[in-house]
Amino acid sequence: MASRTVLVTGGSAGIGQATCRVFADQGWQVTTTSRKGTGDGAYRWLALDLNDPDSIAHCADQVLEAGVPDVVVHNAGYGLIAPIETADMQAMRDQFQANYFGTLDLAQRLLPAMRQRGTGTQAAVTSIGGRMAFPFFGHYNATKHALEAAFEALHHELRHSDLEVRIIEPGFTQTQFATHRMEKRFREEPFYAQGLQTLAERLETGKTGTDPTVLGQLIYQACVNKTGLRHHAGALAGPLLWARRWLPQRLFLHLIGKTTNP
Ligand SMILES: NC(=O)c1ccc[n+]([C@@H]2O[C@H](COP(=O)([O-])OP(=O)(O)OC[C@H]3O[C@@H](n4cnc5c(N)ncnc54)[C@H](OP(=O)(O)O)[C@@H]3O)[C@@H](O)[C@H]2O)c1
Repeated sequence: MASRTVLVTGGSAGIGQATCRVFADQGWQVTTTSRKGTGDGAYRWLALDLNDPDSIAHCADQVLEAGVPDVVVHNAGYGLIAPIETADMQAMRDQFQANYFGTLDLAQRLLPAMRQRGTGTQAAVTSIGGRMAFPFFGHYNATKHALEAAFEALHHELRHSDLEVRIIEPGFTQTQFATHRMEKRFREEPFYAQGLQTLAERLETGKTGTDPTVLGQLIYQACVNKTGLRHHAGALAGPLLWARRWLPQRLFLHLIGKTTNP
């Protein structure tokens, strides 16, 4: 039997890299992306910049030229740190372009061929920040809430097909995401300086995130062996989702607010 194929966006680092490894170890043919279009591992590399619509179109064409993937994992994305009040408007648009519009653009381009073939899975890597919001991550969290809504709607819309949808919600995972890759684009405003300083210290010292391999394994299991729309793993994901659901709202908001205002 021909080996099955997966497209994982953003395989050059972190959760995407771990996901590629887990699929490859299970004998899958892996295609993955980075903005450079090259990277480590015995995978097929394509260039994909989610901030560039032409790059998305070209990437989708190249994917489909080689065949319809069995599984697509929309993992690529980045985070913007900025107060809601002072965030740079273009930075907010760029954040939505990459994490939401770009991801949906790629999903739309691959879905017709997957529907025509009749089987396949599209998974979106969102965040526990797609189910709640954290101070100074509001714009990032908004993109993940939007992605959660779109993929939940897609799940309903594909009901009369054999196509599957998965939403993967990582908690804090030990990648370069928080330590190096977060964008900070906002107007300086003394009112927010202390909170941002506390957050910066927490991100700098936060070495307790989950190994991304755990997320790679979760994504593989969710896409290949498990049913159900939403899946989570990673530091604090379970407790935070539990607290969101069961704690009185005042207490929950108080606990989250303390992360930058101890
Ligand atoms: N780490 C966490 O704690 C955490 C928690 C919740 C959710 N997540 C989500 O998990 C996913 C992966 O995060 P990670 O922690 O593995 O981050 P990471 O280590 O920074 O890796 C991000 C990957 O996405 C790619 N990427 C970033 N911006 C891109 C863009 N504009 N266009 C195309 N590709 C882009 C990067 O590729 P190049 O830079 O090589 O182009 C890289 O391969 C993200 O969607 C993130 O929001 C992470």
